[in-house]
Amino acid sequence: MNILFIGPQLRTTSALVVHLLLLLFSTGQSKLIGSSQPIVATVGDDIILPCHLEPVMDVAAMTLEWTTSDQGPRFVFVWRAGQDLVNTKHPSYKGRTSLFSDELKHGNISLKLSEVKPADEGKYQCFIPKRNEASFVELVVGAAASPVISLTGIDGDKDRVALQCESKGWYPEPELLWLDAEGKNLSAGPTETVRGPDDLYTVSSRVTVEKRHSNYITCRVQQRNINQIRETQIHTSNGFVNILSSVFAATVSLAVCILFIILLVFFLWKKNVIKSMRRQWNESDHAKQ
Ligand SMILES: *[C@@H]1O[C@H](CO)[C@@H](O)[C@H](O)[C@H]1NC(C)=O
Ligand SMILES: *[C@@H]1O[C@H](CO)[C@@H](O)[C@H](O)[C@H]1NC(C)=O
Repeated sequence: MNILFIGPQLRTTSALVVHLLLLLFSTGQSKLIGSSQPIVATVGDDIILPCHLEPVMDVAAMTLEWTTSDQGPRFVFVWRAGQDLVNTKHPSYKGRTSLFSDELKHGNISLKLSEVKPADEGKYQCFIPKRNEASFVELVVGAAASPVISLTGIDGDKDRVALQCESKGWYPEPELLWLDAEGKNLSAGPTETVRGPDDLYTVSSRVTVEKRHSNYITCRVQQRNINQIRETQIHTSNGFVNILSSVFAATVSLAVCILFIILLVFFLWKKNVIKSMRRQWNESDHAKQ
């Protein structure tokens, strides 16, 4: 029996076992930790996507990769030979991603992403190819803005006012509600939604309400996924609407007054002209005699 005379299958198997053991050993030694909770960011923010090795290990000399695959595979950041490989980065991340180079020796590969955009939303992976270690972080992007209520018409006879509510700069698409003083839904026109080139949404809606005593009307814009609610309230029986109504009424009465004065002046002028013409007539009659 010769111990060196082992078959090729056995050699492959033992190599595989050794490899597996090494892999188990290395995984057991250091693990990449991302974030189990999604990172919620507001459009325009600078954020950190966490990722670090545990226990701590110096990774500054290793190749490190941050990728995302929600819109096709993309390199968000690649660190190789102690440098940021700018050219491999997807254009949409150029100039916006970096690592904390001083943190790499502590095994901290957290990514800094500046000026978050709606399109950045998705799942990110931090990866150490040499150790075949990966970890994931989910990024949720949101944006919210206060609504603005404006008066679009007054129906004096029926004592009703038409209001418009508009809110610009939301992500994802929000819901718009009109509520009365008791917090009940008011039936309004359909919500118009426009998505801008920056992916942000503008929503608007119109409603006609009775201008009763102490009628509070609320325009509420909300987005549940990002847990955001913005409201604006107006009081239709005084304040805002009343000021606007009186300005409206004052403008109309001023216009009527001016018209009246013009007519009066014209009438008086005409009367005077006739009078002086008569006088002239009379004078010329006297002169003839
Ligand atoms: C990694 O570095 C970032 C930036 O300095 C820091 O905010 C984060 O807390 C660090 N993570 C760990 C696990 O130390
Ligand atoms: C108002 O309407 C919205 C959707 O149109 C609905 O989700 C909400 O529950 C309603 N609220 C009330 C108080 O009826």
